[in-house]
Amino acid sequence: MTTTNSLKQFLRRKGGGTLAVVDGGWGDSGKGKLVDYFAGDVDVVARGTGGANAGHTIVLNGKTFIFHLVPAGILRDSDGVINIIGSGVAIDPAVLVRELKKLESEGMTYANLRISKNAKLVLPQHILLDRLRESAADGKKIGTTGRGIGPVYEDHVARIGLVMNDLLNPESFRSKFEKNLHAKRNSFDYPFEITQGIIFSTALRSGLYGYTDESRPSYLKYPPILNEKVIEREYFEYAKTFGHLICDTDDLLVKKQQSGARILLEGAQGVLLSVDYGSYPYVTSSDPTLAGLVRGVGLRDRDVDLTLNVVKAFYTTRVGDGPFPTELGGAASRYWCASHSKSDETEKFPHTHVNYWDPFLQGVGIRVAGSEYGATTGRPRRVGWFDIPLLRFSLRYASTQVVLTKLDVLDACKVIKIATKHIYRGPTYTVGSETLTDGSEIKTAIMDTAVLSHCEPVYAEFPGWLEPIGHIRSANKLPKNLMRIVRFIEKEAGVEVVMLSVGPDREQLIML
Ligand code: IMP
Repeated sequence: MTTTNSLKQFLRRKGGGTLAVVDGGWGDSGKGKLVDYFAGDVDVVARGTGGANAGHTIVLNGKTFIFHLVPAGILRDSDGVINIIGSGVAIDPAVLVRELKKLESEGMTYANLRISKNAKLVLPQHILLDRLRESAADGKKIGTTGRGIGPVYEDHVARIGLVMNDLLNPESFRSKFEKNLHAKRNSFDYPFEITQGIIFSTALRSGLYGYTDESRPSYLKYPPILNEKVIEREYFEYAKTFGHLICDTDDLLVKKQQSGARILLEGAQGVLLSVDYGSYPYVTSSDPTLAGLVRGVGLRDRDVDLTLNVVKAFYTTRVGDGPFPTELGGAASRYWCASHSKSDETEKFPHTHVNYWDPFLQGVGIRVAGSEYGATTGRPRRVGWFDIPLLRFSLRYASTQVVLTKLDVLDACKVIKIATKHIYRGPTYTVGSETLTDGSEIKTAIMDTAVLSHCEPVYAEFPGWLEPIGHIRSANKLPKNLMRIVRFIEKEAGVEVVMLSVGPDREQLIML
């Protein structure tokens, strides 16, 4: 491995190298677009974590593509770029097939896609369980995407999970599948209407996997909820589309690296959602940090030459529940976003905008301006100001080389607030060797829900630039007011901002 510490150097160098793109926040930073951009310059793109809970939006020639599973480099497949779905990824074959068919129908190819034999297999019982748990009014709601992600990784750690390779071996699949379902026999104890509602929803192919009265055998040992025979049949049917792409991708990637290929590692979700390092328990069930990403593709941290830490600016978003110190509108925003859709919002607040005096409505205005609705669930994303303590936290799990995205969203914003520190406003609380009392100052965010939920941000205010920037392609043409904020963040957080994104299109990027 050759050490390269600047993006320009990395892009200029001849020969191999590995670049990782990691989201430093709560996901949705727009890294799909960056991956698509860099994919034009690499031989391999590999994804290592998460599953169909992710949504990567790429706009190409005015056309929008949203991928949940295939790496964002897939649009370069016909140029020979190899796209890998690594062993750390949880694959729902129904989603995968839908994406492959969509690519075909758009005249795109996926001949160079490779799927890890060890990638985790999402089964209908995972989706059902995820949704059942989220339906319970027991105060334990995480606000998951309902894609079965938590249950599939639980099964992996509990050593009862299935992997993609099982789809290549019907006998082994059947026996593992039945054991898996049997192990869950007591987990589906929820009201009948709720269970049936989920089984008959589009998330589970509108009842296809459920028992009809006629097909339910009387001898079943566990609640006859899911029809194994139909699931097995459907899963083997899915595998016909992609079975030939399943292989040992760890081996493929290492060999590519050894032979001097240029490799791009594509993160999913964000550092703050890491099950190991994030705002637990309001996290996803994989590790979206650099460490999780390399592990999920069978590499090591030291195999990576350069990592980019991608963060949305100058605002932040979060989907699902959990503390969010700079949230505009605080608890009102959290509740609203949990229970309303985009159309509720446009109907109820048609006149709001990014300068609205009321924080909740200003949040709605920024959400509308930035189209901040989940690419996977359509849920409104909670919106708050850019938070330097969170960025400082993300550095050791991602990188100090930062890419700021979505800058154009605040083109019309008159005053931009940047949180520089948190003030703790809760009961006395000990975190390791440190005891926090009311008024304690926190420079680097403490990833403990009990702390984060009592943090009050201190803001620095900046005048906005009040002009469109989407057409700008070189740093020296950027408005001074914008660059002043970029430099402020660099100094405060000790980072180097290497790239700015000023719009959704592949070309709307500026190298600093
Ligand atoms: P899960 O990953 O579906 O289990 O959801 C756990 C938490 O992670 C929830 O708060 C989700 O909203 C959040 N989450 C999962 N995937 C994404 C993503 O791609 N972007 C943003 N949030 C996500």
